[in-house]
Order: sequence, then C-alpha cells, then structure tokens
Amino acid sequence: MPHPSAAELLAWYDRSARRLGWRGQTDPYRIWVSEVMLQQTTVATVGPRYARFMARFPDVEALAAADWGELAEEWAGLGYYARARNLHAAAKAIAAGGFPADSAGWRALPGIGPYTAAAIGAIALGEPVVPLDGNVERVMSRLFAVETPLPAARPELGRLAQSFAAQLVVRERPGDFAQALFDLGATICTPKSPTCVLCPWRADCRGAALGIAATLPRKAPK
Ligand code: ADE
Repeated sequence: MPHPSAAELLAWYDRSARRLGWRGQTDPYRIWVSEVMLQQTTVATVGPRYARFMARFPDVEALAAADWGELAEEWAGLGYYARARNLHAAAKAIAAGGFPADSAGWRALPGIGPYTAAAIGAIALGEPVVPLDGNVERVMSRLFAVETPLPAARPELGRLAQSFAAQLVVRERPGDFAQALFDLGATICTPKSPTCVLCPWRADCRGAALGIAATLPRKAPK
C-alpha cells in the first residue's frame, strides 16, 4: 500500500472538524492554555472552562499578574493543580522574557512535556511536527498495522506519525493536521468500535485491511 495521504485527512477535517473554542487561531497564549487544560481533562469539560478562563485571564500578562488564590479558584474542579502552578510559573517567565520561539523553547518551561511542546509548535508556530498523544498512537498503530505492544511501540509510532510531515500539505497546515488526528481518534478511530465505514483513510488502513484495527494498539501485559 502507498503511504496514506495527509490530504485526505485534511479534506475530511475541513468538512468535519469539531468547532472547539480554541480552534481557528494561533495566539500562543490561547493555544498553550488549551493544551494544558486538555492534558488531563476531556474536551467536553474543557470547552466552557476554557472560555471562562480566557474571560478572566485574557492574556499572559493578566495570568502572570494574578494571585495564586485567584488562579486556584478559577482552576477549581479541573484537578491536577500542579498544572495550574506550572501555568502560573511559566506565565511569569513569559511575561518577563517573551514567548518561546519554537517547540524546544516551550519544552523548557514548567509543565510542558514533549507532547504539549509539539502541539503548541504545530498549532501556534506552524512547525511540521505531529504531537503524539493516545489518540494519535491509536490511529497510527491501526493505519500501519503496528502489532508491537505499547509502550515499546511508542518510538515507531512516533516515527510513523512524523512521516506525514514529509508531505507538503502537512508542512503547510501542521496545526490542522495534528487536530485532524485528534478528531479522527475521538470521533471515528475510537478505542472500542471504530467506525471504519466513515473513515477518510479507510482504503489506506492496513489494520482495517487485515481485520485487526479494533484490536490495536496492543498493550504489554502488566
Ligand atoms: N486534545 C489535545 N489537544 C487537542 C486539541 N487541540 N483539539 C482536540 N483535542 C485535543
């Protein structure tokens, strides 16, 4: 099979993207806060909380100037308060020194791991990187029928995800490509019963061709 085309996924995204509050913009502050919220909280919960947070702390200066008590109050119910602590510390660093220029710079800030740095790099900065979260791992393991169990398969899944960045359409729209993968994983290439008949990559999917898509990714026994 040829390498699946990113253009097919992007065309699907143009028709079917979820209209989420943090989409359609590249303000690094707004993208950063959305990705930190989405680290451990579902899209459904983040939606209204994100809008409220942005109304209260509209830019990085406002967040940096806030008392911890105000921020903690705004974060109530989202859990994992270390995220809010790190957000506050990073906001102060950014207010003093400016936004990082690339994903490596973001990675150096508190609370930003490789996944979040790549998401910000792709969505806010247009870097041709593909952030690897659980959704993207699932989509890649099925698309390329990777039967190596997680977590050992992770480096290979990362290389496969990144292989799309060689396609011009991804270099032109890396943020949309990343978010298209999140949406595909959340709505069609779901963990239990993927809706392969609706998938823009149906004809390209080795896992589907082999009839094993729903069984992937495999997981090493604990
Ligand atoms: N999960 C993590 N980041 C996301 C994003 N930008 N859109 C949808 N789901 C996500």
